Amino acid sequence: MDANGGIELTLLQGAPQEAHVDLFAFTTFGDPSKDSFFKAIDSALNGVLADVAKSEFFEGKIGQSISVHTHGRIPAKRILVVGGGARSEFANPHIRDIAASVASAANKSSAASVGFVVPALGANREQGLLQLVAEGVHLGTYKFGRYLTGDDHKRPMALKSFGVFLEVKGKKPSAGQARAFAAAVTRGTQIAQAVNHARDLINEPAAAITPVALAGDAQAIAKKHKGTLTVTVLDAKKCQELGMGMFLAVGRGSDQEPRFIHMTYKPAKKPKKRLCFIGKGITFDSGGYSLKASQAMEDMKVDMSGAAAVIAAMDAIATLGSEHEVHAIAACCENLVSGRAYKLGDVLVSMDGTTVEINNTDAEGRLTLGDAITYARTKIQPDEMFDFATLTGACMVALGPYTAGVMSDHESLVRSWLAAAERTGEDMWRLPLTTRLREQLKSQIADMRNTGDRFGGAITAGLFLKTFAKDTPWVHVDIAGPASLSTTRPSQPKGGTGFAVTTIVEYATRA
Ligand code: BES
Ligand code: MN
Ligand code: ZN
Repeated sequence: MDANGGIELTLLQGAPQEAHVDLFAFTTFGDPSKDSFFKAIDSALNGVLADVAKSEFFEGKIGQSISVHTHGRIPAKRILVVGGGARSEFANPHIRDIAASVASAANKSSAASVGFVVPALGANREQGLLQLVAEGVHLGTYKFGRYLTGDDHKRPMALKSFGVFLEVKGKKPSAGQARAFAAAVTRGTQIAQAVNHARDLINEPAAAITPVALAGDAQAIAKKHKGTLTVTVLDAKKCQELGMGMFLAVGRGSDQEPRFIHMTYKPAKKPKKRLCFIGKGITFDSGGYSLKASQAMEDMKVDMSGAAAVIAAMDAIATLGSEHEVHAIAACCENLVSGRAYKLGDVLVSMDGTTVEINNTDAEGRLTLGDAITYARTKIQPDEMFDFATLTGACMVALGPYTAGVMSDHESLVRSWLAAAERTGEDMWRLPLTTRLREQLKSQIADMRNTGDRFGGAITAGLFLKTFAKDTPWVHVDIAGPASLSTTRPSQPKGGTGFAVTTIVEYATRA
């Protein structure tokens, strides 16, 4: 797997413009001619920077940047100015993309060392900004290159050291602050490495990331955290004994054996709460006998993105520590066709005894999750549980590709979840669990059927899961859109995004 932990982040002291680095970068908010730091650098460069800004219409907007060679006029070899947009509208997570664009610009211009000025935004935002800078550097240099054999892909990353200048209200940071800043950098690095790990798992083909391989990955993570993190892996026989009729039916059509993964983090002290994060782990979704068309099937190796997120997040949670007992669960299998596959019209018996008539084998995620939720509710009995699933195309129709749909009937829990997402900058939006839509799930011969009508498809999927969550406080997060993207941003290339990892870690270690 691709690791990019090779970049070292350091805190730099002294006058930024004196830094001996290959690339010196800073942010301007709006019109650069009104920025005193920009003007100072510009005059050291005899006005070259302002000239370039003018000719390239650089107005300090988000997404804009200019770059010039210094030709020895200051110690840095090259200057990069990145637009930050309006200062009053600048939310902390914006710095992640800015740092990511600086890191990738450094790699493109073969710069081994960077000096980056974190903008002084006040209100004790420094620590949060630093964490996000660290995240951005590691996320922005992520690449899934395992299967590329050309020479340009074998070239090692140019960027080795990313130095950060930080001013606290014009003063040098105190010793205590310096320690907090170092911790923020470590935290950001750990989180980004977990996100990148989830990306690797998602980007790997289904032939490589089978349910057994995912279980092996979870075991490898647990091995890194002996004493705090344990993992139990259940095979088909064990799941049969537990009565997971829905989960096993979905996996029956594949020669790849199913695996039910359960990871547990236990804090040293008595835990405050017991949390459970559940991820959908369909390692390939062909649709089964309700077969998908080729185009819709093409990207279905990503249908384990929820599982990847919860497994990878546990690594960061165990490293950073949590006051809570944290569980991660993923019921992993492949949804294929064969002589053994489940069929339309079948009636499945779920772990909690509810019978389900199958009217679409492509609505498989809710079946696997239903049994995973029952396992969590009865075996773990968490105070709070969350599920993450690439569950419905309907959610993408409703919210577009970038926004996850959040459903819950627990007001305070959903609010604290969305507040965590707001802090990390992950795009999530609540959809209603309109109970009237439940009538679409009625069956003539079983307690319910697995699919409703086309309209409200994200919500009927949520209502289906609610049947199994019962009264346990629960939040459902449909990540069908943002789990994998065909567009980029500085902190995220095409493909698997690792969506939800940062908010899971934030929630488990901060809330
Ligand atoms: N894995 C898909 C949902 C999906 C679609 C994820 C696009 C990522 C991108 C899920 O299992 C599925 O097939 N859902 C069906 C549900 C329908 C049959 C009720 C869908 O959305 O079409
Ligand atoms: Mn499906
Ligand atoms: Zn699916």
